[in-house]
This record gives sequence, structure tokens and C-alpha cells, in this order.
Amino acid sequence: MLSRETKHEGRPAPAEVAAHILKRSKLRPTLGLVLGSGFQSVMARCTVVMEVSFVEIPGFANTSVSGHEGRLALAYLAKTPVVVVSGRTHFYEGHSMETVTFPIRVLAALGVRALLLTNAAGGINGRFRRGDFMAVTDHINFMGANPLRGWREPNRFVDLTQAYDPALARLLKKAGAKTKTRLHSGVYLAVSGPSYETPAEIRAFSGLGADAVGMSTVPEAIVARQCGLRVAALSCITNPAAGLGKEPLSHADVLATGDAVKTQAARLLEKFAEFYAETK
Ligand code: HPA
Repeated sequence: MLSRETKHEGRPAPAEVAAHILKRSKLRPTLGLVLGSGFQSVMARCTVVMEVSFVEIPGFANTSVSGHEGRLALAYLAKTPVVVVSGRTHFYEGHSMETVTFPIRVLAALGVRALLLTNAAGGINGRFRRGDFMAVTDHINFMGANPLRGWREPNRFVDLTQAYDPALARLLKKAGAKTKTRLHSGVYLAVSGPSYETPAEIRAFSGLGADAVGMSTVPEAIVARQCGLRVAALSCITNPAAGLGKEPLSHADVLATGDAVKTQAARLLEKFAEFYAETK
């Protein structure tokens, strides 16, 4: 069942949900990780201390997309205490922006200071090849919705001048160099999906300054900034965007590329977690 909730009022307080989760473990995460398509394999490198399925967490909606498992784990990754959201709920599944971003509010309430959002994306920049990675430096919100719409509390006018933390992006680049990953930097443009784009749209997005296109991450980054978290985002370039490759686009193809580079993705995230712990 898809959640049809659109109001903040009908939802439990993130702090209550967080308290409930923290009761089940002594681990106190400092870093949050949201694993998109192609990044699930990092779970195998985590020492999981406590794990809970989305269906057991009030306010969380389960995800219906293959390649996205809905569970939240408290774990150690390279000795860094982390909270991992494995699988995410997407706007294109029919969930409200509030539902999509509720896990971020819970992560903030769990006490994390920084967040790494990961995703699969289509490459628009001509230098990007299938299986490359991109550290997000900025975004363009083309989803036609904003997760803070209707937000009544103070701090609705969130500054996004520097939505993606440059110091965290440097850690990503350092982790990329250490793991010999082809890691670019660039602008992520988010669409609502679930259809892929037309070639005309991709030409337009290219003109707007986008390097990659995807269907997630932006709502979470906006809410994370509202919550005062430092944000990093990492895309796996799973395919050339529409009109730029030889083949038609398919979800199976996106998953296949994600699968082909899953070890690289996991090593990259593990190094990032290690470098993050060293900065504190
Ligand atoms: N477009 C939008 N979202 C995506 C793509 C794409 O080409 N590839 C992976 N996610």
C-alpha cells in the first residue's frame, strides 16, 4: 500500500521515532548513509549492530522498487558509527514529499551531523562513461515540487547557496583517488520520473548546466539542510542519458551497471566513512 499522507500532523515526531530506534542499541551514529541503486553492496562491509525494516518504523513507507530494500541499520563502517537507510522511497512511487523525506528528519534526530546520499543517474556530461561516479557539487530541482512546501514552522526559507558541503566533497574525492575510482564532480538535476527523459529534455538540461539526471536525492538534500546536516551526494552514472547512447533506456540496464560496479561503490563508501571519522 502506498502512503497517501500529505500532512505533517498525521506523522509521528521524528524525535519520538529516533528515541524508539536508539533504545534498541548503544550505537550513536555520526554519519548517515542513504543507499540508492547500485550502492546496496556497502551493507556487506558494515558491521550491523541493529537493523529494522521500514514496515516496522512509524512514518516510514515501504519501497516498491526492485533494487531498493527498505531497512534501516545502525552499524559500523570502517569503525565509523553510521546509520544506513538501505533502499529509499521515491516521489515517483506516489509518496508525498513529506513521506520521501521523513527518514532524513529521523536521521537528524538520531544525532548524525553529516549525510551521504547516493543514487543512480544518467550521464549528461559527455566526459562521463557508464560506471563512472560523480560527486554532486550542486543541484537543479526539476521535480516540480519542494519538500518544504506547506512547512509552517520557522526555517522554511532554507538557504541552498552551498547545499553540498565542499569539505565532504573533498573527502569523497580523496576516497575516489585512494580507491582508483573514476570520480567526477558535477551538477545533479532531479526529475520526478518514473518515465525517463526525452532527448529534447536532455539537450535542454545540458544547456541548463546539468551533468547528470536522476529521480531522487534533491528532496532529501533540501530537508537535510533544513535540519542543519552537512550533505554530500554521490551518483553512479549507470547509463548515458536519453539520446546520448545507442540503446533505449531501461531499469534493468540501470541495475546491471550498478551491479557491475558494486564493489567499487562499496570500497568508495567505506573509504569515505574512514576519512570522515578522521576529520572529527
Ligand atoms: N534518468 C533519470 N534517472 C535515472 C537515469 C536516467 O537516465 N539513470 C538512472 N536513474
